[in-house]
Amino acid sequence: DYYVVIMAGGIGSRFWPFSREKFPKQFHDVLGTGKTLLQQTAERYFNILPKENILVVTNKIYADLVKQQLPFMKDEQILSEPIARNTAPCVAYACYKIKQSNPNATMVVAPSDHVILKETEFESTIKIAMDAAAKSEKLITLGIKPSRPDTGYGYIQYIEENPDRIKKVKTFTEKPQLELAQKFLESGDFVWNAGIFIWNVNAIIKNFQKHLPEMAEIFEEGSGKYWSKEEETFISTAYSQCKNVSIDIGIMEKAEEVFVMLSDFGWSDLGTWKSLYELSNKDENSNVIEGNTMLYDVKNCIVKVPKEKLVVVEGLEDFIIAEFNDVLMICKKDHEQRVKDFVSDTKNKK
Ligand code: GDD
Ligand code: MG
Repeated sequence: DYYVVIMAGGIGSRFWPFSREKFPKQFHDVLGTGKTLLQQTAERYFNILPKENILVVTNKIYADLVKQQLPFMKDEQILSEPIARNTAPCVAYACYKIKQSNPNATMVVAPSDHVILKETEFESTIKIAMDAAAKSEKLITLGIKPSRPDTGYGYIQYIEENPDRIKKVKTFTEKPQLELAQKFLESGDFVWNAGIFIWNVNAIIKNFQKHLPEMAEIFEEGSGKYWSKEEETFISTAYSQCKNVSIDIGIMEKAEEVFVMLSDFGWSDLGTWKSLYELSNKDENSNVIEGNTMLYDVKNCIVKVPKEKLVVVEGLEDFIIAEFNDVLMICKKDHEQRVKDFVSDTKNKK
């Protein structure tokens, strides 16, 4: 059987103040389509697999938000994490839980912070990858042609040995420094990791046993307890023993049977203000505007403010002006990597 595991427990701190610890970006209607990123993510799988095989892994503080936004989900489909430990424990939890009820299942691991424009192409890509993963030990990821030396992504180098769309991976480098990212881009041998993984539960469990053996042991202990009343108590102890590591660094950089399926389905990661800028419609001065504004000599800016307030701006170029709830941020667009620091500084401010 086929499952999708949606990862929705990140805080999205590079998208502050829009994305907040209490209300991260995946629960927002970021692009004004009437649906939140999480809802869009789930709907992408409606034609691919049964709704009861959609699982969401999230922090327990967001479990109610998930229920509200995806009312078709039963409680047991929402996997609540007691603490944030990044994506490796999140995948381990889900694959051991699925394995217990369905020992030969194949799963897609899907982030919830993406935009995908070509839905039909996406569906056919996922179906091909799932069929390939179902009958092999391959860890398949989807590769996107890179367009800039972005340091926020994983870079995948693959071996060009046959015309098949699924290629053997030579190297996987998570979030390289800018210089390296530039080299990768220029060489032309690399694609971006879309962060969407497809594998069967046995293949990924083997890799946990090999590369993150303590974590494998922790979640193996839960066999028999998943899908039952004991799951919650077990998970709270399990998480307190887990190290904090992403699936990319914990498994993908190290595993041998990694394959990449070359993909093109209008993919973007809505990770930062700039990515929102690139995706959005702009006015004649290349501004992205949302809210009630009067702008004079304003160019290449993002102005995203609440409707209830009139915001007047004069003489700014390449700025982000963003107000959300109790925070107003004004920041140079090129300095957006500092947004993460603002978030951690607010914690010391009180
Ligand atoms: N349940 C849960 N728990 N989900 C989490 C956690 C956690 O502790 N941390 C992050 N997530 C979720 C996020 O909400 C997001 O949907 C997804 O996991 C990926 O996490 P990000 O933090 O957004 O990862 P990234 O964007 O920096 O990097 C990943 O995605 C890139 C493409 O967008 C990597 O896989 C990169 O290699 C990849 O290029
Ligand atoms: Mg992301």
